[in-house]
Amino acid sequence: MVGQPVAHSRSPFIHALFAELTCQQLLYGRLAPAVEAFEMEVNRFRQEGGQGLNVTLPFKERAFHMADRASDRARVAGAANTLLFDKTGIYADNTDGVGLVRDLTQNLGLPLEGSRILLIGAGGAARGVLMPLLEQKPQRVLLANRTVTRAQALCHDVLTRMKEVTGKTTQCEVRELEGVGREPFDIVINATSSSLGNELPQVPPAAFGAALLVYDMMYGKEGETSFLAMARAHGALRCADGLGMLVEQAAESFYVWRGVFPPTGLVLQRLRMEMK
Ligand code: ATR
Repeated sequence: MVGQPVAHSRSPFIHALFAELTCQQLLYGRLAPAVEAFEMEVNRFRQEGGQGLNVTLPFKERAFHMADRASDRARVAGAANTLLFDKTGIYADNTDGVGLVRDLTQNLGLPLEGSRILLIGAGGAARGVLMPLLEQKPQRVLLANRTVTRAQALCHDVLTRMKEVTGKTTQCEVRELEGVGREPFDIVINATSSSLGNELPQVPPAAFGAALLVYDMMYGKEGETSFLAMARAHGALRCADGLGMLVEQAAESFYVWRGVFPPTGLVLQRLRMEMK
């Protein structure tokens, strides 16, 4: 796994368990190169026999640009969290969106087709998941961000690339976060980085009360994230953090590398216990 920082990443724990459960031989460690040395470090790792990598902040876009081939979902996001090295070169994939979709639909039991989704944030996290969410055929996706111009640009980018890459056309609404009114949403997803700091996005409280689920793509090192605590205080009935997404995106990366899909439920349980 390459990122900066990666010292606290749970991915080595997750992949070690996947390997054990699927009887695969796998060595998975952490690389934290200086920001300017990312490409050099990836090439060195590959030359030394590395077969694949996960990539995290701030390198996902650069990882995508290093690739010779890429999946549709990586091409639409313009970013990769998974690299595979083989005889034909470097293959890039982005498993974040499918990780989120699987966590929502399979682990949390919420069908997305026909649902009304509020997606908050317009940074890298939102960029990685927008197309996979739209592909589930929700009734509406409202992309809301503190800075509305960033949400407009993200929506335009993803819809344009989606048309180019997959030939599919679909719609996504955009709003300034403050302008989200008393409209009902089934699922509210936080894709901002605000849980990392002490500030919270100013989400109108009415957005939480009617939701079947409030989801934070972040997860707390100690208990609930500040975003979910806020949602609960505003009447959210059901909340989930991004730990399930973390495990599901990892499982999809593992599948890209090994062609075997690991069992995720057990790993998520073990991870939650480990984090207590
Ligand atoms: P990354 O790409 O690494 O996820 P980013 O590009 O800085 O990081 O994006 C972070 C996202 O979190 C943005 O949507 C940001 O909103 P702005 O575009 O308005 O900056 C959002 N964000 C971070 N802190 C926030 C806060 N306190 N309130 C609302 N949104 C916040």
